[in-house]
Amino acid sequence: MKSFEKLLSENKAWAREKKAHDPEFFAQLAKTQKPEFLWIGCSDSRVPAEIIVNAQPGEMFIHRNIANQMISTDFNCLSVLQYAVTVLKVKHIIVCGHYGCGGIKAALGRQSSQLVLTNKWLMHIKDVYRLNRAEIDALPTEEARVNRLVELNIQEQVQTLAHTSIIQQAWHEENRPTLHGWVYGLDDGLLKPLVTLYPDTEIDPIFKYDYHEADMALPAMKFVSSRR
Ligand code: CO
Repeated sequence: MKSFEKLLSENKAWAREKKAHDPEFFAQLAKTQKPEFLWIGCSDSRVPAEIIVNAQPGEMFIHRNIANQMISTDFNCLSVLQYAVTVLKVKHIIVCGHYGCGGIKAALGRQSSQLVLTNKWLMHIKDVYRLNRAEIDALPTEEARVNRLVELNIQEQVQTLAHTSIIQQAWHEENRPTLHGWVYGLDDGLLKPLVTLYPDTEIDPIFKYDYHEADMALPAMKFVSSRR
């Protein structure tokens, strides 16, 4: 059996097992999705989102890319974010990075002449390093430097989320979602929360959207403008 054929046969076995356990499982799922969580994780094959939190189909809306980045000009993650927040109305967004991340390790080295596109994708992480260079360079080993940058990068992505109009509008109008930054340990399989931003978090004014005009246009939102 070829390696990809194993995937197809495993899929048949999985679907059969699910159906045996609950005959309505797929029929129910096919109707709609109402996940409570948006997960933004690394593409790394060792950090399979649903498996590490024992989630079932329908529980998490998922976006993964190299080094779990939320880049404010990337229409891919922005589209996922907008759909998750505006249509699915998720209550929590989890940015999950992991120790030993290859993308972070690469960002700490010189640019590869072969992976020119990947270099560009990692450019923001180089900026996170540049802004925290003294702290990271003071660490004794490459492993420690990579792992600290992993943590700082997760915190940075959570901040970037809070700087988007999508999050600020949802915070302002619906008091959700809560933003979480978690890090996963490849060597122990455990998640560790690093940062949580609740919808009442004060945002740095230079990243703040002004919703005052929107309040004036929406009578239902007047109670908000009267607070000011
Ligand atoms: Co990674």
